[in-house]
Amino acid sequence: MSIAETDAQIINPNMPDVPPTAPSKINLKDYKKTSFDVETVNLDIKLFEEYAQVNSTLEMLRQTEGDLVLFGEELELLTIQMNGHQLDKEDYQQEAGTLTIANAPDEVTLDIQVRICPQTNTALEGLYMAGSGDDTMFVTQCEPEGFRKITFYPDRPDVLAIFTTRLEADKRYATLLANGNLVEAGDVVDEPNRHYAIWHDPTNKPSYLFACVVADLDVLTDSYTTSEGREVTLELYAKSADIDKCDVGMQALKDAMEWDEVNYGRAYDLDRYMIVAVSQFNMGAMENKGLNIFNTACVLSSPETTTDARSFSVKAIIAHEYFHNWTGNRITCRDWFQLCLKEGFTVYRDQSFSADQQSSAVQRIDDVATLRAHQFSEDAGPLAHPVRPESFVEINNFYTTTVYEKGAEIVRMIANTLGLDDFRKGTDEYFRRYDGQAVTVEDFLSALSITDNKIENFIDWYRQPGTPVVSGHQSYDSTAQTLTITLSQQTRHVSGFDAPKPLPIPVATALFDKNSGGIVAERMLLLDQATQTFVFENITSEPVVSLLRDFSAPVQLNYDYQDEDLAFLLKYETNGFNRWQVTQMLVNRILLQGQSSKSSPDIYLQALSQALPVLASDDAMLAARLLDIPSAQELASAIQKDYDPELVKMQRESLYQQVADTFKDQWSELYKQLPIDAYEDSAEARGKRALRNVILDMALTADVNDAAEWAEQQYNHASCMTERFGALKAMVNHQVANADNYLQDFYQRFQADDLVIDLWFSVQASANNVSVDVIESLLMHEDFDWNTPNRVRSVVGAFSAQPTVLWTQDGLDMYTGVIKKLDDANPVLASRLLQVLARWNTLVEPRRQMAHDSLLDLQKNVTSKHVMESLDSVLNA
Ligand code: PHE
Ligand code: ZN
Repeated sequence: MSIAETDAQIINPNMPDVPPTAPSKINLKDYKKTSFDVETVNLDIKLFEEYAQVNSTLEMLRQTEGDLVLFGEELELLTIQMNGHQLDKEDYQQEAGTLTIANAPDEVTLDIQVRICPQTNTALEGLYMAGSGDDTMFVTQCEPEGFRKITFYPDRPDVLAIFTTRLEADKRYATLLANGNLVEAGDVVDEPNRHYAIWHDPTNKPSYLFACVVADLDVLTDSYTTSEGREVTLELYAKSADIDKCDVGMQALKDAMEWDEVNYGRAYDLDRYMIVAVSQFNMGAMENKGLNIFNTACVLSSPETTTDARSFSVKAIIAHEYFHNWTGNRITCRDWFQLCLKEGFTVYRDQSFSADQQSSAVQRIDDVATLRAHQFSEDAGPLAHPVRPESFVEINNFYTTTVYEKGAEIVRMIANTLGLDDFRKGTDEYFRRYDGQAVTVEDFLSALSITDNKIENFIDWYRQPGTPVVSGHQSYDSTAQTLTITLSQQTRHVSGFDAPKPLPIPVATALFDKNSGGIVAERMLLLDQATQTFVFENITSEPVVSLLRDFSAPVQLNYDYQDEDLAFLLKYETNGFNRWQVTQMLVNRILLQGQSSKSSPDIYLQALSQALPVLASDDAMLAARLLDIPSAQELASAIQKDYDPELVKMQRESLYQQVADTFKDQWSELYKQLPIDAYEDSAEARGKRALRNVILDMALTADVNDAAEWAEQQYNHASCMTERFGALKAMVNHQVANADNYLQDFYQRFQADDLVIDLWFSVQASANNVSVDVIESLLMHEDFDWNTPNRVRSVVGAFSAQPTVLWTQDGLDMYTGVIKKLDDANPVLASRLLQVLARWNTLVEPRRQMAHDSLLDLQKNVTSKHVMESLDSVLNA
């Protein structure tokens, strides 16, 4: 950012002088409607060199007794008028964050004028300036509570209004965008350098969906005709240097629009759909009505600059934000406790969309791997909270994997329990009943229960934190020819919550005949008590039981398996997901030895050697995934005490080494079967590229002759970023002789492309042998920028996944230093980085004590309520 902090004081000389109060806790049970509703909002935003002037007119109507309350933060109030009369300081009460008018009449028109300073807004909430130097733009981020940093407003999701927005700025900012339809544009009278545009959004919306953009951007235009015959203009805005990276996103948007029509009967409702790419953004993207704002990393994609994994997630995120138009925007949340109502459902929808774009097994593998690595560890630690939290200090702290990913798993369980036809009937009913309203999770469940099937008891999944552990065993009675499976569930008691009760857990089950390998019975068991038995009749010999197929519930499974059973299932399970799940169970047993069983890697290696060659030619993507070893983070999530990062790292590496060595003679052959072809964006081509990178790494691990040379060749002849970056990463991680030269080459090739330079930073920050010194020198690099969250994450986020270095004195000093630095400038980002330290309490000494001291020290040096709230929870472990 170019404007120094001192300027902020000059521009805002009289920020309201209100005493700071301790941030208070907000509780779900205290929900109350607002006294006043807003009918229409007229916003007039004028941008100047050093500040912005925001004039608003709110038409409000009383709906219940009580004061008229507006929220406002970091606003300089110039004037406020009610029904044409100027209000004086005695006419209203201003406290930290609120402006209250007592005794307002039932019909109110408020005219409010404020000044704000987007130029110095580094928190990236409200209206802020992105970019620097000559290359700046202004964008908004209002979810969850950013609108109150633009003007005084009843900034809550249950206040829906019609917005008209006038934007005015210097003509250097040629692009003026806001929600809805453009109604007028032109030059400002008597000011030849300035122009304006007026936008009107005909849909009733909460303020968190407001957006505007003032920038100088190129646009890629396309169109889509909806199933209802509406001709929609599609526009994707980006800097001119990036406009050639918008085709993937545009295609994904059209695919998503069609998908929602086919699968949910939902068509788009406006004449225009805009997406804007912004380089400084705290999250992935935002579903503002008709005007999505995207982190560049989540919308730009080209084969030369974007890895397959990234590109695939670009499509998923485009779809996610588009799907919000119905699940989130048309039907929104009554309050922020209901965040999962829109996020869980929308994630479920985007996962289903993605499953239609690639092998559904691989999609499920990726989603489950993410859930297990991140959500399970969140649920196991001090930040555990229900999918629908019951209280918070700062709602920004609750955009978590629990709300999003576990929230999606609940919707998935419901969909599977109802069956897809009844689920569709239920969602149709949900849209019919609640369109245009702000609703709750209970409303959602009641609409889904219109068919005979009742799923209302799933509400407990939304209320209870912690990952249930399902354990079980079987007994076979050869005389009666019955198999009895006993399952029981247990959830840890998270402090501050009621004692856990049994949840409805769907356990997809199949019995496999030991001789033929065929399925003899298949059933969805519903475990909804603490312990239950399930009897299968007419089973002629003792079968091998496969449980939790397709990961039918977000639980830890602890079944009394023999290693041989798992090896058997790896061979005979019918779908790719289940085979992957079995390998993961085997690997977990081996790695968590001493904890529970005494599995040896032999059976695993043997099973792999049968599966791998077949798969490599059949389904390369699945073959690549079968070689997955759970991340250090996922393994750590299962350890409650004396977690030793060195030991886990060593065990992971030694198993990886064994796999690499076992197949040492085959890597060369397998690698050669996957020559570099011309780039293609198909599931098959992506699978081959993924497998090739895995094999390259394996070959380097096994010290295969020439493997270093393959890497160089692959780098030099790469047809796309997946190949080039895969080779670079392998060279860096294995410290191949030329690695530094390639790093330099990579930097020079892509110097102008921020997103690729993010990769360059991250490959170094996540290198196997990374040290705190390396991280510190990356933080000093001239391209490092504290004001760009993507860049911060590419170094600090990558580093945080290195537990052996993070949990050292130097690592902690560095990491908490970063949090201190960001605490004031960007508290949302600071708090998210802090959450990575949540499981300090499980560490082995002396690391545990070290971490505790660092956190206590951090507590003395931070002030944002975001970081304070997270720190309080983390220290309460
Ligand atoms: N609502 C956005 C999404 O999930 C995420 C987001 C939250 C973005 C808060 C910005 C701020 O699609
Ligand atoms: Zn979302």
